[in-house]
Amino acid sequence: MTELPSGAVTFLFSDIEGSTRLLKTLRDRYPQVLADHRELFRAAIARQAGHEVNTEGDAFFVAFDSAKRAVLCALEVQQALAAHEWPESGQVRVRMGIHTGHAVPDQGDYTGMAVHRAARICSAARGGQVLVSAATQNLIEDEEEDLEFTLVDLGERRLKDLDRPVRLFELDAPGPSAPAPVAPAADVSRAVRGLAPALTTFVGRAGAVEEVCGLLESRRLVTVTGPGGVGKTRLAAEVARRAAGRFADGACLVELAAVQEPALVPAAVAAALDIPQTSGLSAAGSLAAALARQQVLLVLDNCEHIIAAAADLCEMLLPAADDVRILATSQEPLRVSGEARYRLPPLAVSGLSGSGGPAEAAQAAQGEAVSLFVDRARRVDPHFALDSESAPVVARLVARLDGMPLAIELAAARVEALGVEQLLDRLDDRFALLASGDRRAAARQRSLAAAVDWSYQLLTGEEQQVFRQLSVFPGPFTLEASKAVAGPGAEAAVLHLVDCSLISPPRPGPDGRSRYLMLETLRAFGASRLAEAGEQPAVAAKLAGYALQVAEQTAAGLQTSAGELAAARWLDAEDATMQQALAWALEHQPSVAVRLAPALAPWWITRGRTTTGYALLRAAAEHAEPASRAEPAEPADDAWATAQYWLGYLANLAGDFLGALKHYALAIKAVADDPRSPVLVDATSGRANCLLRLGRNAEAAEEAGQAAALARTTGYPPGQARALMDLSAAAQHAGDGDKALQWARQATRVDAHAIPGWLARQINHGLADILLDMGDLAAAEDSCVTELDRARQAGDLHSQASCLDLLAELDQRARRLPEAARHLNEALEISIRIGSLLRVIACLNNCGHLCAATQRWADAVTMWAAHIAALKELGMTDLPAAASRREEPLRTAHEALGPDRTRAAEKRGQEMTLATAAELAILLTGADSGSPRVAPGLDKLSLRERGLVVLVAQGRTNAEIAGQLHLSEGTLRSRLDQIRDKAGCSRRTDLIGLALQAGLV
Ligand SMILES: Nc1ncnc2c1ncn2[C@@H]1O[C@H](COP(=O)(O)OP(=O)(O)OP(=O)(O)O)[C@@H](O)[C@H]1O
Ligand SMILES: [Mg+2]
Repeated sequence: MTELPSGAVTFLFSDIEGSTRLLKTLRDRYPQVLADHRELFRAAIARQAGHEVNTEGDAFFVAFDSAKRAVLCALEVQQALAAHEWPESGQVRVRMGIHTGHAVPDQGDYTGMAVHRAARICSAARGGQVLVSAATQNLIEDEEEDLEFTLVDLGERRLKDLDRPVRLFELDAPGPSAPAPVAPAADVSRAVRGLAPALTTFVGRAGAVEEVCGLLESRRLVTVTGPGGVGKTRLAAEVARRAAGRFADGACLVELAAVQEPALVPAAVAAALDIPQTSGLSAAGSLAAALARQQVLLVLDNCEHIIAAAADLCEMLLPAADDVRILATSQEPLRVSGEARYRLPPLAVSGLSGSGGPAEAAQAAQGEAVSLFVDRARRVDPHFALDSESAPVVARLVARLDGMPLAIELAAARVEALGVEQLLDRLDDRFALLASGDRRAAARQRSLAAAVDWSYQLLTGEEQQVFRQLSVFPGPFTLEASKAVAGPGAEAAVLHLVDCSLISPPRPGPDGRSRYLMLETLRAFGASRLAEAGEQPAVAAKLAGYALQVAEQTAAGLQTSAGELAAARWLDAEDATMQQALAWALEHQPSVAVRLAPALAPWWITRGRTTTGYALLRAAAEHAEPASRAEPAEPADDAWATAQYWLGYLANLAGDFLGALKHYALAIKAVADDPRSPVLVDATSGRANCLLRLGRNAEAAEEAGQAAALARTTGYPPGQARALMDLSAAAQHAGDGDKALQWARQATRVDAHAIPGWLARQINHGLADILLDMGDLAAAEDSCVTELDRARQAGDLHSQASCLDLLAELDQRARRLPEAARHLNEALEISIRIGSLLRVIACLNNCGHLCAATQRWADAVTMWAAHIAALKELGMTDLPAAASRREEPLRTAHEALGPDRTRAAEKRGQEMTLATAAELAILLTGADSGSPRVAPGLDKLSLRERGLVVLVAQGRTNAEIAGQLHLSEGTLRSRLDQIRDKAGCSRRTDLIGLALQAGLV
């Protein structure tokens, strides 16, 4: 015998399929059959120069120094076996595996990984089949000769004892031995036993399928967790379909939802796998024994209700059957060692920009959740399609259903009867609405309520109580908050609820604290159980108490520069809770509301929520009016006075100076008995500020002086600083710049640690303003840039707008006109967004100067006219310096335009609403403000359509326009949509911009 090959050796393993059965059938004829088989085999080995390394029973182990020869040998053997006449019922079907690897013979034998791999490949083949590894296939491919066979790619397969799946090829050749035609790689996945064919389309989840398949490569137990109806079973089925081909014995899905008795779990699994119970062994024992010989992916579906039994079974099976992998689905993990958990999130929901029109519709139509809705809606109504009106509605609908597939399917089933708008309208009562699912579905999935109830019933009584009590949180909540609302036992329950997917795992909020969240559907279910249990009022009161405690703690932080940022971010994170608690307190506990609202006021102001803030404060103050209470001298009186102070502050910001004066007067009256009250100082100071804006300078100076004296005697630094700034502003209005600067400098010397950050920024802004008036531009700019930076860091929109406005003026004076336009544009955008009328009005003046500096004389005149008209409307007087600064450029504008055009430009500005003037200012300061005036889209509009655009640009609401034109609002909306399409703009303000640019307004 020649020497065994060394180096790159190709190994061929073979054995006869079902040899034991063959032996039993043929009995004494078997040895002859075996001898014939060997003879045929050896002839082929000899022809292909193979080396028989070992032969045991019906198995051959052959080595070749050529990959091609090994395959040819296998082919010849299969052809010879097929052509041979075997005794009846003694057909010999041989499986073979071929693999090439590095090997060195040792005493007539080989050992090592390549040999092991070849043997494993052989075991993966069925009778009559030859499987070839990718390593061998590569070598043959390289030879590129005319081969009388082909190797068909079967994709990757998982083989017993091998860590990673291997890519396999099947030998295919014409002739008598040709194995049955094989399917291409994509279809080789074996059917998943126990899995009914899917009747509906599988939507999205490409990433999730990929990830879970990946986890199954490296881990032997993977549990997909998530709330009921999120799509765990559907995902697992998809993964099983994909992965089954990699397991020699395929995959098997065991539906455990119907198994009520934990003890019956092993039997249910055995039944699904068709494994009979061996006598003397338990069901679990028989299962383990049988699975030890299989390579299978076991899908244990819906384990949550028999979680311990499922965990026990996995703990027993995994070590006993080392070629079995388990994919479980459950609302909570099995907690078995080595388990990999995959939390399945709901389907992706696309966000909406709120811009309306086709762009928003296209955006809405994206997203897996919307796709699922559309697919299922088409099942009940084949004509269902998304258009520009329905797409955003559907996007909202699926978002309110949290992207939960089950809820989406139940909703889509009702689309024919209700239409998408009504479906959305009725979602508040989602459990009644989504109550009639597919009768073929499992009972727990036939209605939304049943789906959630299934999870709820798996909780202990105490956990149920915590769950329903936590539903009072409208948004994310911390562990601390959960204890405040649901008692000290809540902590452990929360952790368990997270595990069973009833609460989302914690995520850090804007303040860095970890918060938990309940999906809206689960929250709605909890809320109904809370009401049923009669616990709602008590829990809502606890939530309000918690909110008040946080608000008062943050209010203290907001009073200092150092604590401001952390406090504001904390409130950002608790926003939803604050809103809910305040709304509830307004109705049920006015004494809490009247403390809560003023505590939140400084934060509302920095975040630009002045309009809603005013309304809430007003409601809080009205509900807690001292006169309406039996005992006037309650401690909440101070809170009421504080509320009045903030009402004054907000009214002042909105330009309602007389209203503000009334609020301040009420505040002062409420604390009249307490001359040391800080509210007294603040409200007196506020009055000074209002009086100044109304041009009542002498009274203003007097009030400011009083406030300063009061603050000094009471030792109240913020009051002191504010009063000094009022004195400074009064001097500025009186045209005394030196005095103004002196007061402002004094204000900056008040201990910065003892005053709120937003006040410190206001002071520095005021100082910069005076420095600019005095001509010290460098110092003004330094101060302004620093403050803008601080305002941005603090997220203080008010300060940002005022700094940007001032910076724009400084830019202009330094002839940095593009920067001026950019800063002014941003100031305007922010001021409009936060509803700061005073700042918008100030920006119009600034915009007039910018237009003058760029010789856009008519625009300059229009802006100034709009500015003065707005001042007049609010009863405000202009700063003397501001009026005189306009004189010179106005004269030049008159000269350049001539009397008629000047008058026309003035008239345009006077007749504009403030909102339209602000839009024009945005246009004039926009990026392309220097380019020639064109009206890109309007020329495509008909005369009627242009008329409509004018009405919009004049600031009329849809309701007003519809009334004037005798149209329904729906018709008007769709006409405006068409106009926007034609004009190529997506937002209403873009349309206004076009009208302004075209000079239609
Ligand atoms: N990606 C998807 N594509 C299409 N349909 C889906 C998808 N995910 C889930 N569904 C459908 O949503 C419904 C709920 O899904 P599934 O039964 O898989 O949820 P589950 O998480 O296993 O729920 P449970 O906890 O109640 O067992 C089913 O009708 C399912 O077909
Ligand atoms: Mg399921």
